[in-house]
Formats: sequence, structure tokens, C-alpha cells
Amino acid sequence: MRDSTHPSSLSTLRPAPLLLGVCDYPEHVDPASWPEHARQQRALGLRFVRLAEFAWSRLEPRPGEFDWAWLDRAIEVAVAAGLQVVLCTPTAAPPAWLVEAHPEILPVGRDGRRRTAGSRRHADLSSPAFREASARITQAMAGRYGAHPALIGWQTDNEFGWGDTAQGFTPAAQAAFQAWLRGRYGTTDALNDAWGNVFWSMEYSDWAQIPLPGQGVSASSPSHVLDFMRFSSAQVASFQADQVALLRRYSPGRFVTHNFMGFFSAFDHYEVAAGLDFAAWDNYPTGTLGALDEWKLLDPAFALTYARTGHPDVTAFNHDLYRGLTGAGRGLWILEQQCGQVDWAPSNPLPAPGAVNLWTAQAWAHGADAVTYFRWQAATMAQEILHSGLLRHDGTPDRGAAEVAGIDPARYPCVPVRNRVALLHDYESLWLYGAQPHAQHLNYWAQVFTYYRELRRLGVDVDILHPDSPLDRYDLIVAPALTLMTPERARHLHAAAGRSRVVFGPRTAFRTASGRAAQTALGGLLAQLTGARLQNFDSLPVGLPQAVGGHRADLWAESYVPEDPATEVLHRYEGGPLDGEAAVTRRGLVTLIGAHSPGLIGEVLAGALRAANIPTLDLPEGVRLSRRGEVTLLQNWNARPVTWCALELAPVSTTFLRTAEVQARAAPHLHPSPDPPPAASAGPRLKEST
Ligand code: GAL
Repeated sequence: MRDSTHPSSLSTLRPAPLLLGVCDYPEHVDPASWPEHARQQRALGLRFVRLAEFAWSRLEPRPGEFDWAWLDRAIEVAVAAGLQVVLCTPTAAPPAWLVEAHPEILPVGRDGRRRTAGSRRHADLSSPAFREASARITQAMAGRYGAHPALIGWQTDNEFGWGDTAQGFTPAAQAAFQAWLRGRYGTTDALNDAWGNVFWSMEYSDWAQIPLPGQGVSASSPSHVLDFMRFSSAQVASFQADQVALLRRYSPGRFVTHNFMGFFSAFDHYEVAAGLDFAAWDNYPTGTLGALDEWKLLDPAFALTYARTGHPDVTAFNHDLYRGLTGAGRGLWILEQQCGQVDWAPSNPLPAPGAVNLWTAQAWAHGADAVTYFRWQAATMAQEILHSGLLRHDGTPDRGAAEVAGIDPARYPCVPVRNRVALLHDYESLWLYGAQPHAQHLNYWAQVFTYYRELRRLGVDVDILHPDSPLDRYDLIVAPALTLMTPERARHLHAAAGRSRVVFGPRTAFRTASGRAAQTALGGLLAQLTGARLQNFDSLPVGLPQAVGGHRADLWAESYVPEDPATEVLHRYEGGPLDGEAAVTRRGLVTLIGAHSPGLIGEVLAGALRAANIPTLDLPEGVRLSRRGEVTLLQNWNARPVTWCALELAPVSTTFLRTAEVQARAAPHLHPSPDPPPAASAGPRLKEST
């Protein structure tokens, strides 16, 4: 069971304002410019700089020989200007001398090819030589700067898994995987049984026979894949834990976090975040818009309307996901925030005027206590020449800088985020979906995101949590894709469903902990809860929809047999092979949805929310509400103005509402209509826009 409380959430009597900072790389520019840069940073309202990411070759130019002079000076200059400092361990960019001395640290990709130096993340986390070198530079840095009065915290490494490196395919990784399997199963017989290796004569009699998955003639067994993903996660977690232990020892009182990537799936982020004070992520809204296209969730022509802002629900989803990584209430940082064009999407449009403001405000509303713009000055060298910063290549302020200058952090008090709806997310279930997707375009994220998006459209704020987290303070729990079910998890959900409403999506409880199909499918561990048993599942090619309850299901439809007299069938399929079979069932507080249909999902969720006494809205496309404490942001992510509740919402804008007044303002749109607000709450200061 994961703990959901943290002392920091209790010490919010006078909430701190949102902290703004910037990722700076002083080693990329002339040191003569540093004092002026620091002055400009402070003048923009920035309070800290993030330094030293990737700077290993400058900090340790030769093995064991450190050069601190430049970083000492960079910190000194920042402090003189009134800035604080976040330091990064530079281990995402191993220097050339390390690769030369230990070529075995170079990663091998899933194609079997060994990578070279000349980019970043070219190290295998299973390599003892790499881990030793990483510990040495971490210890040296922590020893040097750990107690510096201007140092507020650490970022470990950078974006674990970037460049498809979370899964290692070196001989060292294979040996470590075999040892990990031995630790998990004890005997090869136990492993053979757990994986079902009698199939295709895959039975092993020696640990050394077990290959890495993904390199056979055809797909690997899902159980093999699942355990390899677990092993890879454990490698990332233990690599980071070595750094965290050193940072804690030499740098007491400073936070330690890591900058994760949006929708990244290649390790269990809950496991990797477990030793951190809170999680952070890197938010590049225009770059991540492509996900919706890939999942067929936005018409490609319509997606263009979000080309300069990204989609509100995509960014909000990741904020909510990362805020929940260390348990509700521990905080969230944005360690990289887009402030101009990125350089890595298929095309990289300029952000809309107002977008930097919009993204900053949204990050705060979804729990960010700090936002760090990436990066200070656009690089004049190497791979990211085309990526914007707050300054252009020539040192003049770029468009984003003007927006940052206009942000008043005092409008964003960092109080805890408290929501009534939990959405359950589980990386092991995600990996099982990926191992046997069965439906093109319907991956795990697409399914979970569809539920999230409907909740957001209904005006609801959501905590995204691990399924084994404490759930007792939620009124509605939504588990869209919880395919891996264990007896302990089932007991936990049973207990939760005694207090709260629960909505499950398709493929729930279909797999055991080792990735086999549960022989009893839904009739097993959750049978009593759902009162229904899985009957058929249908994987629908694009363009072959299934009608259900006046809606259209695409990509996936599964049907159920009610098994309990108390089970009601809310919707049945119409036509096709599932004609007449149950698509949505409900027993007591528990609802089960088998059809992948945003319209139907929205309708069922709206009913569950109302039943839980959580008011719903019907927000227009691209308009979203986000609550944090006394303030509710009403954001319009559209490139056109929208009128909502008699409010004129300018394109790409944020309107501040007092949370207590949102219901009054939206009363005609709320379902059910709330009681009239007490007179005291109907104050005159309803809105201010940015
Ligand atoms: C992130 C990374 C940064 C920079 C940025 C560009 O992946 O952490 O160092 O590469 O993307 O958008």
C-alpha cells in the first residue's frame, strides 16, 4: 500500500507563490555574458537556474580529475543576481574518455546494434563500469555543492529511457535479467509454469538459456515481455537509487527529483519515483500533440487547430499523472517547460501568442509548485540549434520571454490539490496491452486517456493514481484499463467499492500477475464486485464500428454475462456479432463498460458523477476548468474566441474565477443544478483574464 501523505502537504499555512526558473547551460556561452544573463533572468522574475545537465565532460575532463572552477563561477554569478540553483547529475551524457576506456558501456538497441557515442544516453544501466563512473561523479558533485546555501535541490540524470534506452540488450543486460529472474522465481520450473512455456517448447532448464525478448523470429511471450519490463524498471530504479543515496548523504535538506517524459511507458514510473521527494516532468505541449493523431482521437484537420498550443487534456493528463507518482499531496515540478518552438516534432510551429502563459497557468492549476523554462538561450551549436529558448541565438529576448515577464507568480499560490475523482493507472497493465494489443490504434494510453478526456470535458478534476494507492477519500474511482489483477488488488478494490463508486473499462482483470489470461477472466477475482462475466471481445478495424446505446464504438467492443440478480444491464450492443449482448453493466456502486466509445463513456461517467453528487458540466471543445484551492482557472485553448456562461473567452487565454463562485456562474449548465450559493459567495470580483 502506498502512503499518500507527506509533511510538505501539511505546512501550507502561507502558501508559497509559484516558483519560476530556467534551464541554463552557461558552458555553452561566453563566460563574459554570465553576469548580464543572470541579471536578465532575475529581471524576468525567475528565481532559480537549473545547471550542469549533461556537463560531465567539463566537470570531469579526465577520469577522476575534476574541474569545478567554471561551475563555481556560474553559481557565484547566479547567487550574486539573487538566483537559487538546482543541479543535475550529468550522467545522461557519458564523456568520450569513459567510452574509450570502457566500450562495453555503450548500449545495444533492440535491433542488436551497438550504439556509439556522439549523442546522449549512450550507456547501458547494467554496465558495472558505467554505474561506477556515475557514482563517482555524483559523489564528487554532491560533496562539492551539496551544502551550498544557494542549492535547493537535485535532478537525477535526465529523462531516463530517452532514445529507447530503458531496455538494454547488451550481454551485461542479459546476464542481469537472468539473475533477476532467478531471484524472482527460484527455479526454472517455476518460471516455466508462470510464463506458460510449454507453449512452442519454450521451456528452459537453465537460466543461461533465457534470451532477451523482442529478438526472436516472431513476437515474444507476453509473460517474457512483462518480466523484462519489470526487470528494466528495476534497473532504472536501482541506478537512480545509487545516486539518490549519495545525494541524501552529502546534500541533506535538498529535494531530489527526476524529470520524466510525458506518456513515457518503458519503465514503471511509480517504482522509479519511489525514492524521490516528488516527481517532475518535461512539458512540451506542441510536440506531444501527435499522440492524439496516433490514437485516432482527433480528426487530423481538427488537430491543426491545436498546432500552436497542444491539446489541453494531453498536457493536463501528464500533470495529473506525475503529480500522483509519489502519492497524492507530495507536489510536482515542471523541470522543462516549452517557451518557444521545439525541434523534434515532424513540424515545429511557433506557439500561439499567450501559449507560454496558458501552459504556465495550467501547470500550476494541476499542482506544479515550480515551472522551469527550457532553455535560457537558443544553442548556437550541435543537435538543438533549431530549438528556441527565452533568448534568441543573438541574445535578444525571444517571444516567450515577453510572456514570462508578464507572469505574476503571486496569483498562483501553491496550495495542495484536492480532488474527488481518482483515475487508476498501472504500468504493468500498460505493458500487457503493448505485448498483445489485438487492436491497432487502441493502445493502453488511448484507452485511459479517453476516460480522462471525458471527465475533463465534464468539468471534473482528476487525481491519477496507482491502483494500490489509498483510495478512501475519493467519491468516484475510474479504472479504464486495469487488466492485471492480483488477489491483493482485487481485495483493495472490493474495499474501495464498499465506499465509493467505481467504473471499470474493457479488459479489466483479464490477466494474472505473470501475464497469463485469468482462466476465469472477469468471472474470477472481480466477479462478486462486477456481478458480470466476460463473454466475447471484438477487435474492430478502423471503419467497422459497433452500435451501442445510441453511440458508436470503434476499435474495441466486449460483452458480458450478468451473473448476479443485482446486476443491471445499462446498454446492449445493437447489430453485429454482439447483438443483444450486454455492453455496460452495473451492480450496486460498480459499473463496467466494455465498448470503446467516447460518447458512451462520457454518458456513463456523467451518470456516475451525478450519482456521487459531483456536479458535471458540458464544456465546449478546448475549454477547460482546473481548480486549485480558492482559484479556478477557466482556459480557452482554442485559436478562436468562445463564449461560455456569458463569459467572453479570448483565444488562448486564462480567466481566473474564485472556486466558490464557479458553481454560481455555471449554475444553468450544471447537472444537477446546485443549491443557490450563499449570498456571501456572490462577490463582484468574478474574473480577471490574462
Ligand atoms: C528534453 C531534454 C532537453 C532537450 C529538450 C528539447 O528531452 O531533456 O535536454 O533535449 O528535450 O525539447
